[in-house]
Amino acid sequence: MSKLKIAVQKSGRLHDDSMKILKEIGISVDNGKDQLKASARNFPLEVFYLRNGDIPQYLRDGVVDAAIIGENVLIEKGKDISIVERLGFSKCKVSIAVPKSSDAKSLKDLEDKRIATSYPNTVNQFLETEGINAQLHIINGSVEIAPNIGLADGICDIVSSGSTLFKNGLKEVEVLLKSEAVLATSPLILDENQKLVDKLQFRLKSVLKGRQ
Ligand code: PRP
Ligand code: MG
Repeated sequence: MSKLKIAVQKSGRLHDDSMKILKEIGISVDNGKDQLKASARNFPLEVFYLRNGDIPQYLRDGVVDAAIIGENVLIEKGKDISIVERLGFSKCKVSIAVPKSSDAKSLKDLEDKRIATSYPNTVNQFLETEGINAQLHIINGSVEIAPNIGLADGICDIVSSGSTLFKNGLKEVEVLLKSEAVLATSPLILDENQKLVDKLQFRLKSVLKGRQ
């Protein structure tokens, strides 16, 4: 019998809540600490623990059938991947922020300025739509430090509680998008595995309803 391969964030903010919702829909996974792959005991399913940013490509290639992933990652790297269900957790924004002392009040005010970000496609799309020129500095983490070390005039990154912005003396000036965890599927998923996704989705809907 075929098994559904589902990707979950290996470590980070989505991981725990993803495992929690799987548990709530009755999927118990033997989670050997350093294993990158684990089988469910009571459902034909294997969980692959992967880096967030790699998941869109794995879905595209059909290496995994489905994933629990932040919508923001799909907007950045997986516009062709379809979302099956919005999961209501890991809510965040992708925002532009500048130093508290800056006069900039919106993205427009960053014309010809330097923006540090891990979300270049997302930022570029907004710059293009608004007809703004800016220079992007792509960094993979700790983006909020960039203005303080003179690398950028503003940043674009995830804002959740807002505490990282606050601690780095930054203020949010524009929200580019709002995001939450979603269940997404591969465009190459086989019918028999799609049926398993349908089962999961049915269970998810009832858990999500109960959470409201
Ligand atoms: C994420 C994100 C923001 C921060 C937002 O970073 O890149 O910096 O969380 O959360 P907050 O608004 O609740 O402070 P993370 O801590 O995951 O580290 P990284 O940027 O180095 O990957
Ligand atoms: Mg960060």
